[in-house]
Amino acid sequence: MRVFGECLTAELPTPAAHGEVIKEYDAELYDRQSTHLDSIAEFQAFLGDHLDGGGPWEIIDAPCGTGLAGPILKPWARRLVGLDLVPAMVSQAERLGCYDDLLVGDLLDMLPRLRAEMVVCHGALYYFRDLAPIVAAVAACLSQGGYFAFTDFPAPEGVMATRGGNARFCRSPSLVRELLESNGFAEVASELRLSFTLPCLYWIFRKR
Ligand SMILES: C[S@@+](CC[C@H](N)C(=O)[O-])C[C@H]1O[C@@H](n2cnc3c(N)ncnc32)[C@H](O)[C@@H]1O
Repeated sequence: MRVFGECLTAELPTPAAHGEVIKEYDAELYDRQSTHLDSIAEFQAFLGDHLDGGGPWEIIDAPCGTGLAGPILKPWARRLVGLDLVPAMVSQAERLGCYDDLLVGDLLDMLPRLRAEMVVCHGALYYFRDLAPIVAAVAACLSQGGYFAFTDFPAPEGVMATRGGNARFCRSPSLVRELLESNGFAEVASELRLSFTLPCLYWIFRKR
């Protein structure tokens, strides 16, 4: 984690505009890249370690991307909804046939209008400089006792960003904990694992 911190800067760039995010993705290529498949396998192992025997829940996979997490979430789901900003990613997810509903849009706008017992956000929070609006949107969507499971790259302090390339935001574990606690969540689990070949924190919180 300390070495990863050397690749980060406290000078925060402007987050990517929606149009840039949409241009970034080639849905078919995405599914063929082993780093994406390996990250889903890590996420599956993490959820299995902490949630086995739970459910079935109404789950929202936000963002769902091409739906790589769909098959691993399905066993826990009474109803599985996916949403993503990129229409081509959602079309690819549709082909899997494991989502009950798929929506295109910004998760910040859409989550407060939806209801769920679990919200999953795998491999996407690095797009967001500020985690607070996400946590508020998830809290608005979740029923009491509902789970928020997500991955987030760790920073040594506060909010930092990767140097060069596309802007990728990272946060200190204490910032994540404080934010979730102050929005009425209790920590269920956190583990340092790999995601997209980088050290990443895997988190589960539960709405009180
Ligand atoms: C690296 S992919 C991860 C997708 C999926 N969760 C997975 O594990 O394969 C990141 C996804 O975040 C989506 N995304 C980025 N910003 C978003 C936003 N504001 N609202 C909804 N989706 C967003 C992108 O379109 C992309 O599909």
